[in-house]
Amino acid sequence: MNFDLKALTIAAAANEKCDLLVLLVAEPTPAASDPLSSLVALALKHGDLQTEAGKSLSLYHLPAIAARRVLLVGAGDGSAKAVRKALAAVGPALSAPALKRAVVCFSFDVPAQALTAGVQALADATYVFATTKPSAKPCSLEKVVFGVSSKAALQPAFDCGVALALGQGTTREWANRPANHATPTKLAEAAKALAKLPGIECKIHGPAEVEKLGMGAFLAVAQGSNEPLRLIELHYQGGAKGEAPVALVGKGITFDTGGISLKPAAEMDEMKFDMGGAASVLGVFRALAELRPAINVVGLIPACENMPDGRAVKPGDVVTSMSGQTIEVLNTDAEGRLVLCDALTYVARFKPRAVVDIATLTGACVVALGGLRSGLFSNNEDLAQALQNAGDAAQDLCWRMPLDDEYAEGLKSNFADMGNVAGRAGGAVTAAKFLQRFVGDMAWAHLDIAGTAWKGGAAKGSTGRPVGLLVHYLLEAARTAPVAEKAHKAVKAAKPAKAAKVPASADTTAAVAKTIAPAAGAPDAATDTLL
Ligand code: BES
Ligand code: MN
Ligand code: ZN
Repeated sequence: MNFDLKALTIAAAANEKCDLLVLLVAEPTPAASDPLSSLVALALKHGDLQTEAGKSLSLYHLPAIAARRVLLVGAGDGSAKAVRKALAAVGPALSAPALKRAVVCFSFDVPAQALTAGVQALADATYVFATTKPSAKPCSLEKVVFGVSSKAALQPAFDCGVALALGQGTTREWANRPANHATPTKLAEAAKALAKLPGIECKIHGPAEVEKLGMGAFLAVAQGSNEPLRLIELHYQGGAKGEAPVALVGKGITFDTGGISLKPAAEMDEMKFDMGGAASVLGVFRALAELRPAINVVGLIPACENMPDGRAVKPGDVVTSMSGQTIEVLNTDAEGRLVLCDALTYVARFKPRAVVDIATLTGACVVALGGLRSGLFSNNEDLAQALQNAGDAAQDLCWRMPLDDEYAEGLKSNFADMGNVAGRAGGAVTAAKFLQRFVGDMAWAHLDIAGTAWKGGAAKGSTGRPVGLLVHYLLEAARTAPVAEKAHKAVKAAKPAKAAKVPASADTTAAVAKTIAPAAGAPDAATDTLL
């Protein structure tokens, strides 16, 4: 499907030839006398149309209107939340057979964030999973034109919506694929395909390299499966070379049986979504390739299956993580933290300005927050605030959870530096406390998306979350470049003659040297930078 942005007034929209014209009607309602405005006024007056978000009135072959069908849709107060709800409700109408070209326009000046949300919601509502279902009817829509009064001002918001739609689409697609169609090897191929896009590079590590790296915890989870593990490394370079990146680490368990601590049969199929964190990292990179923000991003995905087998890790086994800390695997179903802890140790080599891990980590988080908000844990106030703000802006909500040290008490083990579980109480928090033991002093956040990455029941499927939250966060982080980078830009901007007059104190020389040095030689970026 193709999206386009066009300058269009309500009066001109009446002349748009298309299969379906969608007009979003918000308060205050329009008072003009063109055909569409008059139609809206009449429908409101007679109570056939309400402005409540998502309520609609469908009309056919109207005189003075070029579109074959017209759908008037309430858009509440015209906010991002209301526009999202309105366009989500339009899904069935847009999926009508033989519908090829649709135009979406607004009875009001649509705010930038509402347009972004609208494009995203429309793409979301028309997504059909057909990869392993040939009988599924794909949406026949070829083009959707968004008509707005001020095209130039809204172009960035529109582009952002399109990029998010593509990113979320990638995430939904990979998360929805059954585990036999989304093996660690296949996920790695998806990452390689992304590396064909501008600004993206990818490196894949197999079992031999992971063993060489000493990732004993990751290897322990993978050892019960016939599918070889993959450690997928993605790099997006939009910032200066050597500028500290933001790192995203996504849990990539392509199927979680629980291992020897086997899960019950009911709903076990849903554990194909246990790579939702990994899929969200792929989706973010898809969006980055479109948006090209001035920031460096590393994506890291430890991918493997968690299976019971003669070679599988057993309860009580002690493994040595890449950090050197030993772990008693008391429950093989707490495998997410085992693959993530080694990935978190590995990611420190990129000296990231911030690390965010994304994981369908605990059933306890589903109990705590349900499907509305992801759990947010962080050792850094600024990072936590930035992620919370991004979630609000993207309507991809999260909720800050505690990390008091007392929560880690249950992780004590008589036979290793720690156990991998700490009893039932506060399970989402104790899982986060386990991860925290591997992040050192990096600015770190953990998003537990167990409740938000997919929906169960009749509408079973991936939600594409938290791509919206993460992309909004990265766009904002790109605007607030690291301190060292700002100094670099200032030096570059200064005229050489003028720069020569500045006394070359030891401090400024050091600052320049820091910014142009490659990442490996740079000082600790986390303590040196703003988030
Ligand atoms: N992938 C699951 C978490 C999960 C469970 C996500 C249900 C969504 C719905 C994870 O690997 C897991 O099994 N966690 C255990 C941890 C426990 C053994 C401490 C859990 O939550 O039960
Ligand atoms: Mn598990
Ligand atoms: Zn799991």
